[in-house]
Amino acid sequence: MNKKLIKEVKHSFKNQFKTKPLLVFSPGRINLIGEHTDYNDGFAFPAAINKGIALAINKSNSGTTKVCALNKNEIYEFNTENVKPLEDGGWRNYILGVVAELQLLGKHVGNFNSVFAGNIPGGAGMSSSAALENSFVFGLNELFDLGLSKTEMILVSQKAEHNFAGVKCGIMDQYASMFGVKKSALLLDCRTVESKPYKIDFATYKIMLINSNVKHDLSESAYNDRREVCEKVSGLLHIDALRDASKEDLGRIKGDITEEDYQKALYVINENNRVKQFSEAIKKEDIHALGDLLYQSHEGLSKNYKVSCAELDFLVDRAKENPNVRGARMMGGGFGGCTINLVKKEAFKKFKKDVSKKFIKAFEKECSVYSVKLSKGTRVVK
Ligand code: GLA
Repeated sequence: MNKKLIKEVKHSFKNQFKTKPLLVFSPGRINLIGEHTDYNDGFAFPAAINKGIALAINKSNSGTTKVCALNKNEIYEFNTENVKPLEDGGWRNYILGVVAELQLLGKHVGNFNSVFAGNIPGGAGMSSSAALENSFVFGLNELFDLGLSKTEMILVSQKAEHNFAGVKCGIMDQYASMFGVKKSALLLDCRTVESKPYKIDFATYKIMLINSNVKHDLSESAYNDRREVCEKVSGLLHIDALRDASKEDLGRIKGDITEEDYQKALYVINENNRVKQFSEAIKKEDIHALGDLLYQSHEGLSKNYKVSCAELDFLVDRAKENPNVRGARMMGGGFGGCTINLVKKEAFKKFKKDVSKKFIKAFEKECSVYSVKLSKGTRVVK
């Protein structure tokens, strides 16, 4: 599927610009566990997947930059010497953001021509935006010999998201997309920005993603609000981030914060601990413990952190009542997108059919089901 995508951008580039481009593939990600822990300097457990963004790019001599979004059939022209965020810029702002953040590092980014296309379903919580940012920062780094390390590149991508898309995201998405390892998930320490790959093999179980196909408009401001709460609570605790807090520490300031804020901070502390327990359970191949941790994570995200929605809760409830599913939870920022499920391989098709039918009946719209492979991170392709 990616080969086809890469071929498409390559052909479209050659047709439009009559030269050979540099080709980059940058994947989306899933996250096994550790949600909303990244901007608390905590742990997460993401993996790059076999869906992503393919980019064809080369230098331009014409004094303008052209970016063609093939899926949308839209072209955007600008000059790299004059870059500002656009109001309602959509995909354009991620690219402008990358260029601007590179310039803030003192890097010279000349004009370029580019065509990109993707196969990550938008709004599914699989980080199509991080894949887009990473594809451009990686491509520009190669093209203009900017000499950035992968870690420096993902910080550029993250800042583009903060300052041009307005989402004060953590580092998980950009990290997983850039550093992904085949067949592995990365136990990521978001404070040191370092990870350890874990080979993932759930034996008789397999990962199923179920997309609620819900994208809530409020998700950006609600995301930033959650981050503010976490920073406020860690300020009161006189620590750098909630990663440094225990339940007991939080208990000591319970009287000074609202019940809602207490519940949110408590969720982060618990979720951070769950990531460590999850990595232990992987080592022990304890599928029961893994599944329980997924359900606990969802419970916290839904009831304490309040980033779920009716459709996601419904999907997790259907998983819980099915003996062939060992665990499930919402994945990513929340308010829509996918659930991640651990499903018995032999019952995969049956659960897919079953849950799809029940979803339509409950919400009069369809959910989408995907299986994914854990893959390598952002790279040059042929
Ligand atoms: C979004 C953000 C990430 C992370 C997740 C929640 O995907 O971009 O940085 O905070 O939400 O875990």
